[in-house]
Amino acid sequence: MNGPPEPFKIKMIEHVGMPDQIRRSEAIREAGYNTFLLRSEDVYIDLLTDSGTSAMSDYQWSGLLLGDEAYAGARNFYNLEKAIQDVLGYKYIVPTHQGRGAEHLMYSYLVKSGQLVPRNMYFTTSKLHVELPGGKMVDVIIDEAHDPENLHLFKGNIDFKKLQAFIDEYGVEKIAFVNVEMDVNMAGGQPVSMQNLRDLREFCNDYNLKIIYDATRSSENAYFIRERERGYENTPIIDILREMMSYSDGCIYSSKKDCLVNIGGFLATSDKDIFEHCRNMVVVYEGLHTYGGMAGRDMEAVARGLKESTSYEYLKYRINQVRYLGDLLMKAGVPIVKPTGGHGVFINALKFLPHLERKQWPAQTLAAAIYEDSGVRSMERGAVSKGRDKETGENIFPALELVRLTIPRRVYTNTHMEYTAESVIRLYEKRDSIRGLKMVYEPEYLRFFQSRFEVLESSKSYLET
Ligand SMILES: Cc1ncc(COP(=O)(O)O)c(C=O)c1O
Repeated sequence: MNGPPEPFKIKMIEHVGMPDQIRRSEAIREAGYNTFLLRSEDVYIDLLTDSGTSAMSDYQWSGLLLGDEAYAGARNFYNLEKAIQDVLGYKYIVPTHQGRGAEHLMYSYLVKSGQLVPRNMYFTTSKLHVELPGGKMVDVIIDEAHDPENLHLFKGNIDFKKLQAFIDEYGVEKIAFVNVEMDVNMAGGQPVSMQNLRDLREFCNDYNLKIIYDATRSSENAYFIRERERGYENTPIIDILREMMSYSDGCIYSSKKDCLVNIGGFLATSDKDIFEHCRNMVVVYEGLHTYGGMAGRDMEAVARGLKESTSYEYLKYRINQVRYLGDLLMKAGVPIVKPTGGHGVFINALKFLPHLERKQWPAQTLAAAIYEDSGVRSMERGAVSKGRDKETGENIFPALELVRLTIPRRVYTNTHMEYTAESVIRLYEKRDSIRGLKMVYEPEYLRFFQSRFEVLESSKSYLET
């Protein structure tokens, strides 16, 4: 068997269409070879993101009917507050419409112009919300994370030598706080170990530095700790989560991932100053502090989903489904980031398309080619996502140029994984014929969402037959 069987059965289905080859070629051209600009009805299997794409349980759906849509003091807010206190252990919470709303409130308070925010590895919206108040996010992840072949079990770990070097060079007062992402997205869904979090707490105590987590995928990170770190083999996920969070001063959380919902976010902390400031500002940008941009019913679904995400059986099925896709690709020799991550399989586009230059956007090209071949939608996670250097205006070309096949939670079957793998393998076999792209439109912020491309040499399709 390919991993444990699903710990659920399917009660409702959604029909999906399969556009033919002619329509797929037309659709990707109309979308400027950017998979974000495709219409979802042109997509067969949607692996663009795991964000907001989960299937909710009947327990969550029934919670929607119990939505208290009062403007102030909805009972679902108190249910959410209690769930976060129980699962993550923080005292205070501020709800937001999604993760970036929480980043905005938290980071605009903690970052002063000219300050640095060391983080294991940047995430697009996090980096921008540090830059908007005049700060700069710097990566302090271990070197192993930049090597797709390296089999380190906790590639999300902080490298203390890199962190120390920033403190020595700029002085501790220039560090706004230390930021740690769980299950590091841009590194391929790679976890942080409990030992690293514990050591970071001690390190930061010496400098009186605050630690803020991006806890968006903390349940999946907790599963890896249980699976890979000695001493946690039999520890309930909820206990692992509470220990992880106990080493931080607060977190931001996009509920659209591990909380198994379609919308929502929050920040949580036990620090009264952070809480009071963010609770004050939430009314300016999101909504009253007892809904923060979410409907009462959405808060109920988040509260219930957060609890469901602590089920070991669910996480085991989830992580192993992602691993199944990774194994299928590895068996065929397709270069992917190893070990397979928590929320998706990340293809190493530099190795897949070595004949393309970086400015021919290999990952963007490959994501478009996968769609055109099979109707499977994936996403670029490389130089287009990284953007330009704020000071020089030059493109930054990170070591990792990846295509992310992100698996929505509880949505697709292993047959869908097999179909996806077949398409990627087919393209790998004819990889030399895939032509690069040139960027023809670039918006100022988070360019990967809306930029447009054209195929380099004139040809109807960049997939020559
Ligand atoms: C690690 C991480 N942090 C923050 C965010 C932003 O969350 P949202 O999309 O809910 O605004 C995301 C979303 O993909 C994420 O993956």
